[in-house]
Amino acid sequence: MGGINRIVAALQCQRRLPLAAIRLHDNVCNTASLSTRYFSSSIAINPSLQYNIRMPASSKSIRCLSSSTTNSSPSDAGMAAYEIRRAIETNKSNQYKISMATHLSHAGLSRSNNNNSSNIKSFNSPLSPSIDLATTYERPPSGHYGEDGMIYSRSCNPTRKLLEDTIGQLEMTSSSTKDQQLVASTFAFSSGMAAVSSLLLACKSQVKLLMPIDVYHGLSTQLKCLNDHGIVHKSVDMTNITKIRQQIKEYIASGDDGCIVVWLETPSNPLCQVTDIKEVCNLVHEMDKSQHGEGRIMTVVDSTWAPPCVTQPLHLGADAVLHSGTKYLGGHSDVLLGVVSCSPLTENGEWLAERIKAVQVSIGAVASPLECWLTLRGLRTLHLRVQRQCDTAMQLAQYLNGHKNVKKCHYPGLKSHPQHAIAKQQMLGNKFGGMLSFEVESESMAMAVAGAVNVIRRATSLGGTETLIEHRKSIEPEGSTCPAGLLRLSIGLEAPADLQHDLEIALEVASSI
Ligand SMILES: Cc1ncc(COP(=O)(O)O)c(C=O)c1O
Repeated sequence: MGGINRIVAALQCQRRLPLAAIRLHDNVCNTASLSTRYFSSSIAINPSLQYNIRMPASSKSIRCLSSSTTNSSPSDAGMAAYEIRRAIETNKSNQYKISMATHLSHAGLSRSNNNNSSNIKSFNSPLSPSIDLATTYERPPSGHYGEDGMIYSRSCNPTRKLLEDTIGQLEMTSSSTKDQQLVASTFAFSSGMAAVSSLLLACKSQVKLLMPIDVYHGLSTQLKCLNDHGIVHKSVDMTNITKIRQQIKEYIASGDDGCIVVWLETPSNPLCQVTDIKEVCNLVHEMDKSQHGEGRIMTVVDSTWAPPCVTQPLHLGADAVLHSGTKYLGGHSDVLLGVVSCSPLTENGEWLAERIKAVQVSIGAVASPLECWLTLRGLRTLHLRVQRQCDTAMQLAQYLNGHKNVKKCHYPGLKSHPQHAIAKQQMLGNKFGGMLSFEVESESMAMAVAGAVNVIRRATSLGGTETLIEHRKSIEPEGSTCPAGLLRLSIGLEAPADLQHDLEIALEVASSI
């Protein structure tokens, strides 16, 4: 088969490509003659569907097309088909939406270095990103680094940038056309808590934080640390919109031109409470708009328990979303990292992005290149890991919910969960997360269950491949509202039957003591 016929065959193989009139535009060839010479006899013309394919005049494929139909080589055909496919993909009306799973499988995979060049090297890119460890970069003789120039790795590092861009894209990937191209400005930090403090520092002073009663205890501990810096905070039941409105009103009434930050964590730690993100964001936007003066009111979601393939808070109206990448994003209990993504859809999100960028560079709690690389690698399997973790969590929640020695099981996937309907709507693909907690009669019984597990490991943290159990009350600081008989499970990738068997024996042993 000659080169041109190969191209035609390649085009016809594109199931999505209707048989179409193909017009080639270039500086060398006559458009009309190319069109009729090479394509009109082979491809039926549908005048309503035309692809305008722009090819660089220097392109090898164009030379092949314009010079001959008979002498072109198979490689020329490959190059030409490649160019045509690229042109099809850049045609806005022909945008096929790549799913989250595909984005994740290709995390950190670059297509960008083969821009319009036929040079072999430019197509010969590695399929795993490299780790850039350099802290400093040579300054050009002109003295100008240029806008994208690398200077010093605290201000910019290619591996970190790759992770930030990848996560920024994931947070915005959606099934709707509108937001497909948008990327959330994202910043990677040396831990989840570094991300939290950098975000708070980026807000306009004075910060008034409204946080959930049931929340990761690290936030309360950090606020104690930051007390001297004037951050005011109050806790509220984040499942009660009336109470949230009332608290925001009180903050507004107390005056001042700072920032009111409504901090959501959903599902919450450790009680798995679910907040209706959309409802809270709508309220916050409405109150922010009606607010006079220089103050801002914004919503930030700590979505550590619900990674982007489970919940996308920016699509629900949040101004920023935060993850401890130490958990699901890294996914193997070997990375310490945090990320904040700011919404390109809200004015407050864009405002925050500018300020967080400055804090990241000047305060300097940046993620290291190795941690960024490990997180990128973790992202490639995120969807598979999380799907399995959610399925197993559902199975174990159902088992524990009916167990005679279990007082209560907290899991948003259970129909009996008070916010199950919200979870079903807000959490993607019927996935309710890989975290659950359950209560037994007493603290001693909880300790005994944790002591009797064999497959499951006793440890803090979450989101890894190994299932972890933790007695939360004894690890949380004084004043914790966590029930004394509560055990938290982070579900891993083990066979569900092995985990169920492990819990069954552990509950039996604990009840015999
Ligand atoms: C919900 C949540 N947010 C933030 C953090 C803090 O993350 P890191 O330990 O990476 O600092 C954690 C840690 O457990 C967490 O569970």
